[in-house]
Amino acid sequence: MSRESEKQLAATKAAILVHEGMRVGLGTGSTVAYFIGALAQRRVKVVLVATSPASEQAAKALGLEVEPFDESGRLDLAIDGADQITSDGWLVKGAGGALTREKIVAASADRFVVIADSTKLVESLHAPVPLELLAFGLSSTLVRLAPCALRGVPASPDAGVIADYLGEVHDPSALASRLASTPGVVEHGLFGPDLVSEVYVGVGESVRRIVVRGEHE
Ligand code: 5RP
Repeated sequence: MSRESEKQLAATKAAILVHEGMRVGLGTGSTVAYFIGALAQRRVKVVLVATSPASEQAAKALGLEVEPFDESGRLDLAIDGADQITSDGWLVKGAGGALTREKIVAASADRFVVIADSTKLVESLHAPVPLELLAFGLSSTLVRLAPCALRGVPASPDAGVIADYLGEVHDPSALASRLASTPGVVEHGLFGPDLVSEVYVGVGESVRRIVVRGEHE
């Protein structure tokens, strides 16, 4: 099976989790694009909150309802892809530069389900770890984060500068604390197991489900 088929299998399985009336967070990326297609085919009436203009446009193009995120609101479910996934539920996210909105949406959902193809499974996390930085004082922030490089892509929808931490990731929890406490860092792409409910990974012709947190069916 190809990577694309594995993404599609995982995304289709995740679409079954969506029920009428739910408020659903929508991630960003090619696996989420399959999810949007599968969700549109289910014809359930839901409200989506998108983490990027690309996901918003793709969902609206298929007739799905997308609303701005009400920050006081909870989401029933959020579905998103990932760049790296460990068996104990640590993720690296943000290759698409949407990490800050993705983390806010994941943290706001009762259930956060990650969908991916089998190439995303790793024994341990490694660089690059995506970062969103404030433009103010950027040079000095980069010095504090070394080794780190600007990615040279357009700013995030919130005007953040996208960069990548390029050092070792021996201890994800310690690195997450270091990055989060560095002045000028808006957000980093390390997502801890406390955020993740389940992971659906397409592996060949089946979907492997990894339960990280909670007892969802
Ligand atoms: C975007 C992300 C994506 O979810 C991640 O990069 C996976 O993308 P894809 O499904 O295309 O492999 O974090 O910021």
